[in-house]
Amino acid sequence: MDVCVIEGDGIGREVVPAAVSVLKTLFPNVNIHHAEAGWDTFQKHGVSLPQATIDCAKSIKSVLFGACSSPSYAVDGYFSPIVRLRRELQAYANLRPSRYLPVPTARPGVDMLVVRENTEDLYVGLETSEDSGDRVVAQKVITRQATERVSRLAYELAVSSGRRRVTIVTKANVLPQSDGLFRRVAYDMATHYPELKVDDLLVDTAAYWMVKEPTRFDIVLAPNLYGDILSDMAAAWSGGLGLAPSLNLGDGVAVAEPVHGSAPDIAGKGIANPTATMLSVAMLIRHHWNLPREAQMLEDAVRGVLEEGMHTADVVTDGYITTQDFTHRVCAKLDS
Ligand code: NAI
Ligand code: MG
Repeated sequence: MDVCVIEGDGIGREVVPAAVSVLKTLFPNVNIHHAEAGWDTFQKHGVSLPQATIDCAKSIKSVLFGACSSPSYAVDGYFSPIVRLRRELQAYANLRPSRYLPVPTARPGVDMLVVRENTEDLYVGLETSEDSGDRVVAQKVITRQATERVSRLAYELAVSSGRRRVTIVTKANVLPQSDGLFRRVAYDMATHYPELKVDDLLVDTAAYWMVKEPTRFDIVLAPNLYGDILSDMAAAWSGGLGLAPSLNLGDGVAVAEPVHGSAPDIAGKGIANPTATMLSVAMLIRHHWNLPREAQMLEDAVRGVLEEGMHTADVVTDGYITTQDFTHRVCAKLDS
């Protein structure tokens, strides 16, 4: 059992080691291969995702990625390491569950999974500047092939996890060609899964219902941009960004990655919530290693600690525990 571990920047250096401790408790023989990426890596080596890191991820095929800081202004030569890594590995689907967790900030009854297309849409990064920078055109790319594979994965997952309903989210009324293609191909693929109830919503309507009545959603299937925004929004229902996990899946490859970023405002203080990263590792164990029993053990251990009212500072303001304390408690549950 091997994992390529990329801590990245900021709290990535705190929550990833926490999740690795938990993983080692569950699988004492796991081999950890450390690799670098991010802003600090860029400043040191002039590249945010070194070739050695790509090679490590490609050969190991099971990756744990923390978070990387990206500058808010354009920096020559800098690109987002995670966006590039997902593309390099063809990890074409991003699974982002939002499920009630026993914390005061979560919404009871919520249990949805956003399946986000991961390789195209506006994220291909094709922007051209005209008119001395006064007119900029960004390309939105949607293809039949990428839509077919992500739809198939969403429907297969629905069937294997006993979910019944998939909602396709687009803005096909305004973008009948690009989003129209996504919606049409996703519906075509659905004909192979007659046991599922497949419907669709426009993204603005989906956002409205996700806030008003989140329990009505089961699986949400969306192109890259809408999936990104809606899943961050849905993360609020599971209790906040510190608790929201995700898994990028391709054929025979997976990248576990919390939804949150490098959180520079709290980095280095030892107070980051490692739950999101631990639950991302559980997703990797379940969906990529096909070990549902071990995944469940990890999820139960994390849930157990939360149920005891042991929370980090993002969840409660008084009497919070540190990243390390939380991690020890999860490991103790796994050991018991
Ligand atoms: P963020 O997710 O890093 O932080 C948003 C807020 O949530 C902050 O107040 C932070 O303290 C809190 N937070 C996030 N995760 C937490 C955790 N585990 N425990 C406790 N509190 C937590 O998003 P933000 O501030 O917009 O971005 C910060 C940096 O992260 C930027 O450089 C951004 O580019 C990068 N980023 C990287 C991502 C990635 O590598 N996948 C994803 C999102 C942002
Ligand atoms: Mg996001």
